[in-house]
Amino acid sequence: MRLTVFLGAPGSGKGTQAKMLSQRERFVHLSTGDILRNAIKEGTLLGKEAKTFMDKGELVPDSTMIGLIKDTLSQLKPNQHVLLDGFPRTVAQAEALNSNPTTQVEQAILFEIADPLLIERLTGRRVCKQCGQPFHMKHIPSRKEGVCDLCGGQVVQRSDDHEDVVRRRLEIFHSQNKGLVDYYSEKQKLKRINVDQPADSVQKILMELLK
Ligand code: AP5
Repeated sequence: MRLTVFLGAPGSGKGTQAKMLSQRERFVHLSTGDILRNAIKEGTLLGKEAKTFMDKGELVPDSTMIGLIKDTLSQLKPNQHVLLDGFPRTVAQAEALNSNPTTQVEQAILFEIADPLLIERLTGRRVCKQCGQPFHMKHIPSRKEGVCDLCGGQVVQRSDDHEDVVRRRLEIFHSQNKGLVDYYSEKQKLKRINVDQPADSVQKILMELLK
């Protein structure tokens, strides 16, 4: 399996880019946030546990996330190129991937952008309730207000995109990110992208990196 991980703050555009890539190329987009939100929607035990953390902007415990991702990756075909969006978020999660010969990370791509822009992106974000496609009220609006361009589903605000929760998520991101950056830098797998530019420009850079 080929594994590329997207690192970066909440709102840096990881989901937007991974979705664009998986729509045009043969990548498998795996978002731990989407998996957890689906579990919440379905009312599973995992969903119930995750909700208590996600609503406050906290991380779901490593033991739960590592089990979840191992399980999910083991169900994929060995020749697939997977874009991991939202995992790893801690060094313990990165080590868990590294400890298995079949889940070695090929490259870690860090999406870089300043915090004030992230707050604007997240509080303005809207997502499709049905397929998860992200939009932005100002930058990337849906063609018809409140309706998803892709599936016609209802476009709503995520419960963790209110400003107080966004600030907590950013705080947690900064407390964990340096460890991850050091981890992948030491392994010479880290690449950085400035994502303070239009989504199409970021996409072009990513396509080059993923060739
Ligand atoms: P998750 O869903 O992964 O949230 P996140 O990492 O906080 O990332 P986001 O989805 O908020 O942002 P994004 O980078 O994907 O940005 P997007 O493309 O949407 O996780 C949610 C929660 O689940 C966590 O808080 C945690 O509780 C839990 N969790 C998940 N994984 C976990 C793990 N491994 N361990 C522990 N807990 C875990 O873009 C944002 C907005 O900007 C959109 O409106 C978009 O339209 C717009 N936009 C995108 N690109 C551009 C651009 N270039 N220019 C202008 N606007 C843009």
